[in-house]
Amino acid sequence: MIIALASDHAGYEMKMAIKEKLEKEGYEILDLGTDSTESVDYPIYGKAIGEAVAQGKAEKGIAVCGTGIGISIAANKVKGIRCALCTSVEMARLAKEHNNANILAMGGRTTSKELAFQMIDEWFNAEFLGGKHQRRISMLDEM
Ligand code: RB5
Repeated sequence: MIIALASDHAGYEMKMAIKEKLEKEGYEILDLGTDSTESVDYPIYGKAIGEAVAQGKAEKGIAVCGTGIGISIAANKVKGIRCALCTSVEMARLAKEHNNANILAMGGRTTSKELAFQMIDEWFNAEFLGGKHQRRISMLDEM
């Protein structure tokens, strides 16, 4: 399975830690940058990960900026993207169960690596519940 990763400078260290974790677990990574802690603009990376997932270049994505707010706003501007900014394991599970989120966003400056890894595991292992939740995400697709 291919996982897309993207961050700005404030999420770079978290992105690299996530990359190392997922590669060890056998996932193929599509790393869309950024490539250092030099200041960059998060909309570029939110757009890149949104387009990669929407176009099927990766099955899902993980996006990181300082808070996760800016990069998630940018990713959600791409049609077909449901990017969920999560700050707890419960939110990560519900982002899959209820929203079928195809990108998980988090804050490199606001979330510990330990919590980030737990959220990723929970999101990967959760299953979309469908039914009324499918109706609701279909409404999103029509917007
Ligand atoms: C960068 O300083 C910071 O604004 C950015 O990473 C992000 O937190 C924006 O939402």
